[in-house]
Amino acid sequence: MDSQVVLEARSLKKSFGALQVINDVNLRVSRGAIHSIIGPNGAGKTTLFNLLTGFLKASSGEVIYQGKNITDMHPFRIAKMGLARSFQITSVFPELTVHENVRVSAQATEKNPYNFLYNYKHLKGAKAKADAILESIGLFEQRDQICKNLSYGDRRVLDIGISQATDPEVVLLDEPLAGLQAADHERIVGLIQDMAKSMTVVLIDHNIDIVTSVSHIITVLNQGEVIAEGTPEEVQGNPKVQEAYLGGV
Ligand SMILES: Nc1ncnc2c1ncn2[C@@H]1O[C@H](COP(=O)(O)OP(=O)(O)O)[C@@H](O)[C@H]1O
Ligand SMILES: [Mg+2]
Repeated sequence: MDSQVVLEARSLKKSFGALQVINDVNLRVSRGAIHSIIGPNGAGKTTLFNLLTGFLKASSGEVIYQGKNITDMHPFRIAKMGLARSFQITSVFPELTVHENVRVSAQATEKNPYNFLYNYKHLKGAKAKADAILESIGLFEQRDQICKNLSYGDRRVLDIGISQATDPEVVLLDEPLAGLQAADHERIVGLIQDMAKSMTVVLIDHNIDIVTSVSHIITVLNQGEVIAEGTPEEVQGNPKVQEAYLGGV
């Protein structure tokens, strides 16, 4: 095994009925990289994340994380192993406060939920951890606000904070910039770059300019297949990529 590869998809396939959505995808994510997955709408990007994180069962193929075969493992177990994700649609609990949302996620990594003493200590730990995360993502001031009252931009930032609460080694972000004004892009990009200092980041986005500026490696997915992979420069100059994008508009 190549120890530089932290997450790998081997000949992954996924069909919904007759519709083949992921068709023999091979992916190797290097430790410490910002590795982006781009492709037109409907290319299979979100489905690929769902397969990597156990939210969907592959029709065939394997997912290897840190050398372990995690294919068909329960999503909760995968998250506990340090592979975290955010969702394309914001996943915060709207009636909870900002702090509670992060704390709930931090508590989910609890190792011994039936031991009262452990629980008590863990709760304190989870609270402190939630505060530290809020500090790092710039939402500490809003810690007691009910989430439904947050701006959309703050919610997306909180989504990223929630993904941090399980101490991930790899984080998968599904369109963290979706629906945001350009003014908020910089904030999220800054967070992604901060995160990348201490973990591997796999990013789905279709804002080519941003993906090009932050990524080390880009994989291009089109109709469930990898059509190109390489550095941003290599991918930008690839005629197949230009065709997939321009042809799809
Ligand atoms: N649960 C599902 N059942 C049936 N078809 C699905 C399901 N999820 C996704 N698809 C289809 O799979 C294709 C890829 O979807 P998706 O992975 O969401 O693409 P992307 O994230 O690249 O826009 C689309 O044609 C979509 O309609
Ligand atoms: Mg998607």
